[in-house]
Amino acid sequence: MTAKISLRGVTKTFSVRAANLGRSTEFTAVAGIDLDVREGEFLTLVGPSGCGKSTLLDLIAGLTRPASGRILLDGEEITGPGLDRGVVFQQYALFPWRTARGNIEFGLEAKGAGRRERRERAGEFLDLVGLTGFADRYPHELSGGMRQRVAIARSLAFDPEVLLMDEPFAALDAQTRESLQEELLGIWERTGKTVVFITHGIDEAVYLGQRVAIMTSRPGRIKEIVDIGFDSREGDLRADPRFGQYRHHIWTRLRDEVAAAQANEREAVGTGG
Ligand SMILES: Nc1ncnc2c1ncn2[C@@H]1O[C@H](COP(=O)(O)OP(=O)(O)OP(=O)(O)O)[C@@H](O)[C@H]1O
Ligand SMILES: [Mg+2]
Repeated sequence: MTAKISLRGVTKTFSVRAANLGRSTEFTAVAGIDLDVREGEFLTLVGPSGCGKSTLLDLIAGLTRPASGRILLDGEEITGPGLDRGVVFQQYALFPWRTARGNIEFGLEAKGAGRRERRERAGEFLDLVGLTGFADRYPHELSGGMRQRVAIARSLAFDPEVLLMDEPFAALDAQTRESLQEELLGIWERTGKTVVFITHGIDEAVYLGQRVAIMTSRPGRIKEIVDIGFDSREGDLRADPRFGQYRHHIWTRLRDEVAAAQANEREAVGTGG
């Protein structure tokens, strides 16, 4: 299989103010990331809070540039955002001046869809995320979970080749989350999209991912990639004994990283840095 997205030695630094030094310093968020995401793959990404998952997603989205290293999409260097990539941000990023429907139609306008097609497609995807009756509500009139569902509908409706999703289901109740997981898997199976999906949920990572990439604590690197060997998503995967084995394995790896992250924080506090 060919790599759809390829990262080589990707490092991202931010310059941050260091109050005690009175000048800014370089802060390394992710370092030396090597990762290939295969064409049509569903890759989930887990790692301790603050390890650089969202930073990595922003880089692939083309919203920020790496300090060093290369990020390729279909063999071409990513230089900015593009219609080939749809992003669902960790914090719902809706246009406040547009209704739920208007937000979903936005991406379709960019793709040049006609008025009628836009309306139809927006309706379809509002249904899909269970917001049929809320088409004309503005973001401030929706709950957090509903806003997130609008953001998910928007990214799906405009049908990008690559979906970059940053904890998209974190704010949802268990039932809504499970039904959207099913829908997303269904869409992925039907369309062959390449999906990079960040989550804090180990169950979610194992359930959705063909592979689960585990990141180290900050600065984030890829610690390990676990192949999830289910042949199909039919039946009750969560009841499969292998499901528990994968979950336990990833849980153990993450526990080590969380402990390392906490030790780093203590050290940073101890040295006043
Ligand atoms: N624009 C920025 N300027 C300075 N530092 C930043 C910036 N964006 C992120 N960081 C830092 O980079 C590190 C990684 O942040 P990031 O948001 O990628 O983590 P994350 O893995 O997504 O965490 P979480 O699981 O909590 O969402 C953090 O220490 C954060 O403070
Ligand atoms: Mg994040």
